[in-house]
This record gives sequence, C-alpha cells and structure tokens, in this order.
Amino acid sequence: MSFRLQPAPPARPNRCQLFGPGSNERLFEKMAASDADVINLDLEDSVSPSDKDSARANIIKAIGAVDWGKKTVSVRINGLDTPWWYRDVVDLLEQADERLDQIMIPKVGCAADIYAVDALVTAIEAAKGRKKKIAFEVIIESAAGIAHVEEIAAASPRLEAISLGAADFAASMGMATTGIGGTQENYYMLHEGQKHWSDPWHWAQTAIVAACRTHGVLPVDGPFGDFSDDEGFRAQALRSATLGMVGKWAIHPKQIALANEVFTPSDAAVAEAREILAAMEEATAKGEGATVYKGRLVDIASIKQAEVIVRQSEMIAG
Ligand code: COA
Ligand code: MG
Repeated sequence: MSFRLQPAPPARPNRCQLFGPGSNERLFEKMAASDADVINLDLEDSVSPSDKDSARANIIKAIGAVDWGKKTVSVRINGLDTPWWYRDVVDLLEQADERLDQIMIPKVGCAADIYAVDALVTAIEAAKGRKKKIAFEVIIESAAGIAHVEEIAAASPRLEAISLGAADFAASMGMATTGIGGTQENYYMLHEGQKHWSDPWHWAQTAIVAACRTHGVLPVDGPFGDFSDDEGFRAQALRSATLGMVGKWAIHPKQIALANEVFTPSDAAVAEAREILAAMEEATAKGEGATVYKGRLVDIASIKQAEVIVRQSEMIAG
C-alpha cells in the first residue's frame, strides 16, 4: 500500500436515494415516510422550466416543515450550464432550514464546477452564520465527467457521494440506446450461436468506484428507468454492489425495498465474513498468515474483504 492510507467514506447508510420532483409537493410526506436513506428533492430534469421558481419555493418550505427523520436530505440543483443554478444555491442557502444536509450537483465535467459551487456556498454560509456545513454529492453523466472523475472526486472536502447517471451519460457518450441502465439488447458476445449479454456500464461504474475509494467518497449507482422490471433492477443493483457501490437511486417507491435488500449485507454474508475473521485470528495466533476456510485459501487480504462486509452491516444496524 502507498504510505497514504485510503480515507474512509462518510459512515452513514446510502443504500437507496429516493427522488421526487420539487414541483410535486404531494410526494414530499410520502418520501419522508419511506425507507430510503437519502431523499433527493429535484430542481433539475424532472421539473419543467416554467416550474423552476415554484419548485424551489416548495422545496425550501418543505425542508423545514416536513419531518425527515434521520434521512439525509439532499436537493438536486440545476446544472452549471443553465440560468437557474445560482438562484438554486443562493435561495437554498439563504432561506432553507438548517435541516438541509446536502446539495447534489448534476452533470459535473471537471473539478472547477465543484469549486464554483463551493465558493458560493462557503460565502453564503459565512454571511448567514449557518452552523451546519452543507455537503455535496455529484452526478457523473457526461463524457467529460467520466474523463475527469478522479479530479472531481478530489475537488472538495464537502464531497460525500458520486452517482452514475446512466441516461445523460449514454447520450453524452453517443451510446446507441434509449435505456436508463440495465441490460442493453445490442451489447452481446456470440458463442456457438448463443448471445451472451455484457455490461456496457461496467467501465464507468468501476472508474467511479476507484475515484471514490481513492478520496473517501461514496460510490452510488443512479437510476434504473423501467420501474416495472424488478428483476432487471435487482440484477443491475447486484452488479453495482459487487463492484463496490454502496447504493442505488429509486425513481419510484417500488424500487426502495429492492435497493435496501441488495445493499444491506445478508445475514449469511455477515456470518461467513465473521467465520473468516475467526479462522484468520486462529491462524494468526499460530503465527500463520494464511489458512483454509471451506476448502479455499484465506489470508491477510481476506481479513480486509471480510471487514468490508462486517463494517457495512454494523454501520447500517447502528
Ligand atoms: N416518492 C414517493 N412516493 C411516490 C413517488 C416518489 N418518487 N412516486 C410515486 N409515489 C407514490 C404515488 O404518489 C402513489 O401514491 P398513492 O398510492 O398514495 O396514490 C404511489 O406512489 C404509486 O405511484 P404510481 O401511480 O405508480 O406512480 P405515479 O404515476 O404517481 O408516478 C412517476 C410515477 C415516475 C412520475 C413518479 O414516480 C416520479 O415522479 N418519480 C420521480 C421522478 C424523478 O424525480 N426523476 C428525477 C431523477 S431521475
Ligand atoms: Mg441526468
């Protein structure tokens, strides 16, 4: 390992981020009552240009008025290429209750995008005497975003999470698909006449996970558009979890339980991880760096793998 240790990400559950348009006030209480760990009130692409001002006012009112429990409350502002984003930041920071935890910046393309928002937020926090430092999360959903993902992950101490936004990402990359995440019909290998589907999101996900882990940021899988397809959602979420992501968005309440199920380590996985730790403790006591568990090698690296699962489970439980 490099002498610079890998920083730990924020120790809070982020298994499911539930989205709702800021223009649809009716949903806010339902979102607050849900089992999602993070609430994302949206000012961006689920709100039409004519509704931007009223959606902003709805959200500012709801942040203080609704009981959000222990959830992380985040607002997705408009992109830095729009005329709305500065007003989003100014009004949220000047007017919203201290209950606001986080701002989500969409379509980031480089570290300077985050620097710009950070400068504005820092000034308003000081001017208004806000006690809670607002956290950031960002979406990688463009060719520039993925090309600069490492500098983006390092851009601000406020940054807590990075999501992959599959739809805008596909559009920016020129991908030949209109699907939002999941299996893509034309992305297959042929073997003896049989089609075997591959994962076109794999590289972007892995790049995000590596950048996040390098800088102590939570990597999150974004939306899965077909909310009638539970199995498709589960398959996508399982791939993301296997690659190191900690959670996934829900764009419909149906998807919350699915995300929570996949991103909560199962009892069996936790039990096995604890057995591996016990086996390694025994080996270490005998002066051995490796041993056999259920017919397979476990060694000092296995301790770290098992600890990932046990730590995640304990953090979610407590
Ligand atoms: N959060 C909380 N509750 C929600 C919800 C959400 N995002 N979306 C729907 N619901 C509620 C509905 O109000 C309804 O409640 P009811 O049983 O009390 O009437 C119930 O869940 C079932 O909803 P359903 O009729 O299946 O969906 P819909 O047609 O009302 O809404 C969408 C479908 C996709 C428009 C809606 O889910 C939505 O706005 N999702 C978020 C979109 C978004 O934020 N996108 C930006 C990020 S990609
Ligand atoms: Mg998007």
